[in-house]
Amino acid sequence: MTRYLIRPAQATLEDATLLLQAERFSLGDSDYSPEEALAALQRPEHRAYLALWGSEPAGFCSCLRIWDGLIPCLEIDMLGVVSAHRGRGLGTALIRTALNDARSEGISRARALVHVGNRASLRAFERAGMRPEGPARALHVYAIQGFAPVPYLPTGWQVEERETRREGFTPRLACALRDNAGSPLAEAEVLEVHTLAYRGFWVEALRASAPRGLHVLLRHLVERAKALRLDEVGYLAPPSEEVGFSADDLAFAGFPIVGTYDRLREAPR
Ligand SMILES: CC(C)(COP(=O)(O)OP(=O)(O)OC[C@H]1O[C@@H](n2cnc3c(N)ncnc32)[C@H](O)[C@@H]1OP(=O)(O)O)[C@@H](O)C(=O)NCCC(=O)NCCS
Repeated sequence: MTRYLIRPAQATLEDATLLLQAERFSLGDSDYSPEEALAALQRPEHRAYLALWGSEPAGFCSCLRIWDGLIPCLEIDMLGVVSAHRGRGLGTALIRTALNDARSEGISRARALVHVGNRASLRAFERAGMRPEGPARALHVYAIQGFAPVPYLPTGWQVEERETRREGFTPRLACALRDNAGSPLAEAEVLEVHTLAYRGFWVEALRASAPRGLHVLLRHLVERAKALRLDEVGYLAPPSEEVGFSADDLAFAGFPIVGTYDRLREAPR
């Protein structure tokens, strides 16, 4: 009798093809070719898992090893089970496999985003031991349409950058914007992510003393992303009273809301 097998996906064209087949018939977010998916799988921070029914792909999960502030963490980025195989515990089992594998590599924290209203996904994450954290957040995304550089920095203003690369984790970039007097105007921390659906910056933290500084720093991130040939820059915004700027400020800078998500975390054991 055929039964399910869950295993890590290897960085091969065969497994990249199986992952994309599972993705296409479950999530449907990726228009990647197998070669593009393989390039993401080959990165040292990527961990992906396949659920197979015989030789047929039944589900998948794709994760990134990130630094969440000062803590190593697994971001469970994409999850999907082909409709004919749903409701049999495969989604939960894929998440558990990813969490167990991360623990065996010394990573005991995990996080994920679930679209508000996606009950099946929320249940699967909860059954695997993850819990929503805080109120739902709006996801703002700047979609990059072309790569020609655009001047954006007022005369005399400067952006200081510090990049951190740790073996086996997504690169992290910290940026600080200062005016001509050297006064701090805005700061951001971003992760450079290569998923199975896109390449982008995730803005992890954003602080600004005024909208002008916010807009110039966001523009800097977009220009930086264009120079790296990324597809988008995304920011999961905390409530505006926590950060001092609004959804309208972000939309003005070209970052409209594309969805509302619950952030889930696995508490340390
Ligand atoms: C989310 C998804 C991966 C779950 O996969 P699955 O193999 O069916 O998950 P499991 O069987 O482990 O658990 C699903 C849970 O959700 C419940 N569920 C399934 N469909 C549901 C629905 N439409 N509404 C509410 N709950 C639902 C199941 O009953 C189960 O909970 P229970 O154990 O309390 O009964 C799958 O539905 C899917 O691929 N959806 C489309 C893509 C997607 O949304 N991915 C997640 C992005 S974060």
